[in-house]
Amino acid sequence: MPGAGTKAPPFQPWREALKQVLLNMTTYDTIPYPSYSYPQSAPGTLSAIARIFGMQPTHVTKARVLEIGCASGGNLLPLAARYPAATFLGVDLSEKQIEQAKQQASALDLENITFEAKSILEFDIKEEKFDYIIAHGVYSWVPANVQERILEICGENLSNNGVAFVSYNTLPGWNAVKTIRDMMLYHTRNFDEPAQKVLEARRILNFVIEGLEAASGPHKQILEREVNTLKETDDNYLLHDHLEVINDPCYFHEFMEKAGKHGLIYLGDAGLPSMFLGNYTERVSNTLRQIDDTIRQEQYLDFIDNRRFRETLLVKEGCSLNRRLTPAILDGLRFIPCYDLSQPIETGSEGTVENLDLVALQGGRKANMIGKIACVAYVALLRAAPLPQSLDEIAASAADISDIDKKVIRKEFGVLALKLIFNGVLSVTTDNVPYHIKTPSEKPKAFPVARLQSLTMNKVPNLRHEIVTLSNDLKLVFQYVTGENSKEQIAELLKEHIEKGELTLHVNGKPLEKDSPDIEQYLPQYIDARIMNLANSALLVG
Ligand SMILES: C[S@@+](CC[C@H](N)C(=O)[O-])C[C@H]1O[C@@H](n2cnc3c(N)ncnc32)[C@H](O)[C@@H]1O
Repeated sequence: MPGAGTKAPPFQPWREALKQVLLNMTTYDTIPYPSYSYPQSAPGTLSAIARIFGMQPTHVTKARVLEIGCASGGNLLPLAARYPAATFLGVDLSEKQIEQAKQQASALDLENITFEAKSILEFDIKEEKFDYIIAHGVYSWVPANVQERILEICGENLSNNGVAFVSYNTLPGWNAVKTIRDMMLYHTRNFDEPAQKVLEARRILNFVIEGLEAASGPHKQILEREVNTLKETDDNYLLHDHLEVINDPCYFHEFMEKAGKHGLIYLGDAGLPSMFLGNYTERVSNTLRQIDDTIRQEQYLDFIDNRRFRETLLVKEGCSLNRRLTPAILDGLRFIPCYDLSQPIETGSEGTVENLDLVALQGGRKANMIGKIACVAYVALLRAAPLPQSLDEIAASAADISDIDKKVIRKEFGVLALKLIFNGVLSVTTDNVPYHIKTPSEKPKAFPVARLQSLTMNKVPNLRHEIVTLSNDLKLVFQYVTGENSKEQIAELLKEHIEKGELTLHVNGKPLEKDSPDIEQYLPQYIDARIMNLANSALLVG
């Protein structure tokens, strides 16, 4: 029995709740939340989805953006750096996190971003309108009156063509997580110190799994799956996402009912494939197609998927939405591949392939692309990565590598692209700021926000607002990619790290001694490879 021998006071849920509500005021100050960029909440993505459903949203380059519960600004700072003519406001209860956000904004000389330490309940600027309002990872973790206020702010402060992004835990999927959470809350109820709480939470999970060693059946399977997922998570995430006193999942239809009271309607889900009936069995899609109500339709999909998390996009009542999609809606959008080739194509045959085996960049799912135009267009898109491409650009470069006319490619791939978006093979953005660098300059320059954050974190935002995890040696190179150092100068700087034993070069898998004469020969290649890696990860601006 864990903790056997210590005499615990009786478990009184109301007392625990009160104690944790009081503690909750400061948990984010004691242990800040790791603050990252979320591409699904980026205005470029939100506006692309709004366009798909027939709206004319404000372009990201001149948008006014509000983030509620912005933590230390990990989501807003990269956007502010990318779009100097847009304005950004971040609000969070935690003074410590807001202080960190302000320090970063000032270190980056960003003048278009403001951070305010205040409660959502105190936020009161009715007259100011925002084109995009983001509340990522907040709604389910705050009391009912704060939840209500989040939706009220979206209703009051969203511009007429604005889009709000609200993420939250959903039922029925969260029921399985709740089982684990209840165990952790019960076991850690007498530990107030956050680090100890996390340690004990992990202990009870291991204890339960050990207890199920000889068992079989669904209970064991469910617990094992949940526990294994939590094993991979950071302590900060475990503390805030699972051990906070409030964690209030709801059904999608309940959420939409509340949003409706604030004059908000459903635009769509940030993950478009989850809305597409074509991704379900024929019987399911035929049955649900008969329901002329997107919310009811999607609620049934949540039952089927046992969905546990949603990222809902809301717009103001009165926005006229078009749910009958045609390829014409793709004009003005740019495409990003979500799958890579599972094997390289033979050189010279890029323009003639008729079948591609693909693997998802996230999660490793396999897919197959069939047809010459589809394949050649997809290869062209992959070759342009990390730059998002318009349909015209895809068609032009696909025509260059094949014998097919670009108008034919444009037309046929335009029809297919719509399907590929809803199948999750392509993602979309309206972001057309020419910022990504495919060929690094003589003095390569890192995306400044990413470089600043790499000094304290392994995960940094790239120019597509994705999170990139840097290895330790890449982090080392990254700090010298300032736009002021040539590759030769970077080599000199890295030699000091090699001498101190902080960096080891490998040749054919074997480490080079720090005083090896081969270092002179291999260091330039090493740097070139790392710089190309940074460029391909959309982390360079020069
Ligand atoms: C789980 S974190 C999510 C942070 C960030 N949005 C993200 O997804 O990475 C929740 C954030 O909401 C903030 N928060 C909680 N209650 C709040 C309130 N009443 N007013 C403003 N911010 C609040 C916390 O300080 C914390 O930074």
